[in-house]
Amino acid sequence: MKSENVVWHQATVTRERREKLNGHKSFVLWFTGLSGSGKSTVAHAVEERLHQAGCRTFVFDGDNVRHGLCSDLGFSEEDRRENIRRIGEMTKLFVEAGVIAMTAFISPFRAERQRVRALFPEGDFIEVFCDCSLEVCEQRDVKGLYAKARAGLIPNYTGISSPYEAPEKPEIRLKTDRETLEESVDKVMDYLKEHHLLE
Ligand code: ADX
Repeated sequence: MKSENVVWHQATVTRERREKLNGHKSFVLWFTGLSGSGKSTVAHAVEERLHQAGCRTFVFDGDNVRHGLCSDLGFSEEDRRENIRRIGEMTKLFVEAGVIAMTAFISPFRAERQRVRALFPEGDFIEVFCDCSLEVCEQRDVKGLYAKARAGLIPNYTGISSPYEAPEKPEIRLKTDRETLEESVDKVMDYLKEHHLLE
């Protein structure tokens, strides 16, 4: 921390009071996986379900955040670390605000995901691994970036020239190359119900 003489102000309207007003708990669903593994698709579909159930939600999407909050960052290891650090802090604020936050970032490094997890009380950080083989992600190549990366036009491309460290013990593992979107969304919803995060 660079700044001195800053004092944390304790709000009287607490997270617990906001949760009570909202009628549901707040937490974060942290989606991680290769580009094209379905993180955004599943996150938005889960958000749709939660919204219909009357929950307050927000999805942070990798590509969108990189247009604004993180527009100064690229894809070097250092920049990705800073990207995830900022999103982690931002997500923490949303959870404090009583919102169910969902993030869809590759977040390729285990240590960075662990650092974000440590920002939250036990149980509030739910890691959702979109487990999809590189082959399938490359076949999909929705944005045409894998082809470019293979052609050597994009340096440090995750899965091609930059590593992806798969979670060892994610709370939820979605086999997004084998199950339907519906099945993936159901798995997430089931987890939330089983863990009493939803009614
Ligand atoms: S992260 O590694 O810092 O978590 P993030 O999720 O924000 O990545 O951004 C990934 C998206 O940026 C990809 O879906 C892809 O569209 C785009 N992208 C551009 N360059 C790269 C790269 N070198 N590696 C991975 N994704 C890239």
